[in-house]
Amino acid sequence: MNPDSLKGEIALVTGAGRGIGYEAAKALAWLGAKVVIAEINEQNGKTAEESINKEFGAGKAFFVKTDVGNEKDIGKLAEVVLKKFGKVDIVLNNATVFPIGAVKDTPIESWDFSYRVNLRGPVILARKFLPAMIEHKHGVFVCVSSSGAAPFIGAYEVFKTAQVELANTISAEVEGTGVYAFTIGPGISRTPGFIEGGGKVASLMGMSLDDLFEMNKNAQISPEAAGAGFAIAIALAKRYHDQETSSIQVLREAGIELTDEKQKAQEQEKLVTKPIDSQNTIELYELVQKTYLEQSEGWKKRNLFERQWISRDFKKNTGMSIDEMQTTVKALGNSLKTQASTAEFVEPLNRLAAYYVHQQEQLKGFEKDPKKLEENLKIIDGWIRDAKGLVQVLTR
Ligand SMILES: NC(=O)c1ccc[n+]([C@@H]2O[C@H](COP(=O)([O-])OP(=O)(O)OC[C@H]3O[C@@H](n4cnc5c(N)ncnc54)[C@H](O)[C@@H]3O)[C@@H](O)[C@H]2O)c1
Repeated sequence: MNPDSLKGEIALVTGAGRGIGYEAAKALAWLGAKVVIAEINEQNGKTAEESINKEFGAGKAFFVKTDVGNEKDIGKLAEVVLKKFGKVDIVLNNATVFPIGAVKDTPIESWDFSYRVNLRGPVILARKFLPAMIEHKHGVFVCVSSSGAAPFIGAYEVFKTAQVELANTISAEVEGTGVYAFTIGPGISRTPGFIEGGGKVASLMGMSLDDLFEMNKNAQISPEAAGAGFAIAIALAKRYHDQETSSIQVLREAGIELTDEKQKAQEQEKLVTKPIDSQNTIELYELVQKTYLEQSEGWKKRNLFERQWISRDFKKNTGMSIDEMQTTVKALGNSLKTQASTAEFVEPLNRLAAYYVHQQEQLKGFEKDPKKLEENLKIIDGWIRDAKGLVQVLTR
């Protein structure tokens, strides 16, 4: 990745007046593209244009006031941009609205409003800009996903999920044309939109916004990193074509480490440094339980595509679902407390240890950095050691 990576490209980013869209526009400009800020908020659009031009040079950013849900606006946008630049190479469907509330309480108007921005907009943009991309055998069309179904965000999430299917459909339709399409989700990021909407969701869930972030700490990412992830994926569009990915995954694959992950690895390492002999059954159980619960909760927060892939892979390798293993691990804790028989838990623990060995094999195929590979294999060695150690003490 360097300032020539997207040199000569014209990137249209919707909703780039603030938040992740603004950061993505900035990162695209850094990679050499000229960016069109298609934003409904005039004030924010202008400020974003000024600030990118100030940082990267005049003419790098160009603001066009646009409502993505309005076909006439997109027609005008295309006219202005084609007159100025002659083409659009990249469309990043970042604009969003985030209506909050339980399905039973959300007025139908909020669903219509969300549909306009979160689905109708990307479809209008696809209709407008894909034909020329296909004709010129060059282009990238990106949809932006979210976390998947969750309480109180139905009117937002169902159209975001539909956006994923839109990218899947387009990917198949542009196959072999030189145009690439994919979906990317940022992770959880403290943007103005999320602070406002997430705050409302948190209060409906009876918690604070900070609690909500804490609950999702594995998926946390700064708006800047999330936007950089979008831009890198665009620069590597061929690689991400027809996929649903996330900024965290793209940054990891690009070898850019996020601080949180480093801390997590260090904490995990601390947990596994105690030799088995000095640990009693309960201590070992707690290590196994903590590792598995953290992992399984983390898997549940992945995007839909990753979740489905992990669940299938887990079941194939352990013979049980992620939830069944959670229940089994919890039940073992109860049996240990009540000193009931634990014989039935030996087999699932063996399977869990075998699954960790499988994870190590996967990691060897995926992690290109030898130092990181060694560090992560060592961490998983610790998980295997704990699970096998627990089997050992249960069968003593
Ligand atoms: N922040 C997160 O934690 C999070 C999590 C999952 C997915 N996302 C996705 O990431 C993307 C960016 O999110 P964000 O948190 O930066 O959002 P944000 O609310 O902070 O910014 C959204 C931008 O879209 C603009 N916009 C709204 N309606 C528009 C319209 N009709 N036409 C043009 N622009 C319009 C807004 O004015 C705003 O500038 C969104 O697609 C969102 O769904 C964000």
